[in-house]
Amino acid sequence: MRKKIVAGNWKMNKSFFEAEELIADIAEALEEIDLNNTEVVVCPPFVYLEMATDIAEECDIKVGGQNVNDNESGAYTGEISASMLASLEVDYCIIGHSERRKYFSENNAFLKRKVDAVLNHDIRPIFCCGELLAEREAGHHFDIVRIQLEESLFHLSSEQFRQVVVAYEPVWAIGTGVNASPEQAQEMHAFIRQLIAGKYDIAVANETSILYGGSCNAKNAEELFAQKDVDGGLIGGASLKSEEFIQIIQSF
Ligand code: PGA
Repeated sequence: MRKKIVAGNWKMNKSFFEAEELIADIAEALEEIDLNNTEVVVCPPFVYLEMATDIAEECDIKVGGQNVNDNESGAYTGEISASMLASLEVDYCIIGHSERRKYFSENNAFLKRKVDAVLNHDIRPIFCCGELLAEREAGHHFDIVRIQLEESLFHLSSEQFRQVVVAYEPVWAIGTGVNASPEQAQEMHAFIRQLIAGKYDIAVANETSILYGGSCNAKNAEELFAQKDVDGGLIGGASLKSEEFIQIIQSF
């Protein structure tokens, strides 16, 4: 059975002490609940990763980076490599978030290199895909997502692909308070699973966790996660408060 995953994307938020408090509160709350095959992931800013992996080591939390450089090492001032993340025992890395695509001009071909970089170090990519509002309104959303997967992921072998987590994040839903309806999410998730089955096989498709992201919160998570092909969420704003994040984790 594929894993259910709830991942918190903290983006560029919190001081060191606030971040430490947040992960410690999540760790404490998790002791009291039955996770029932749900993997809990937190993705803090790079500078807090060591603190986070120290705390996570003692409990049921996995840690992810929010980004990675595609090079192995060298003169890339200010950048962080996959081998650095691996040396901190980071388990996951978000790749292709729409904010990276928009503000840092990351395109599908470039993201493909980042996917390869993390897989080379046994870090699981949480690969984000999703369309803009104008693309949905023009009826192009399936094509956009298909091309994102084809150009950044479908060069992988099936063994490599088994390490990938896909996050469908319609850009119009991110940080807007307007989530995709459960039907819209299910429709796209089923489409993504079908594409994976077509490229690889049914077994790989059925093992792939496909997360929904975009204004997912404690109020709408249950309905979204109840969809057959929605295997959890990539949570932004609502992951910054431990009580709400814990409620989302318990929404399956
Ligand atoms: P949001 O962000 O939950 O704040 O909409 C989701 C994301 O960007 O991953």
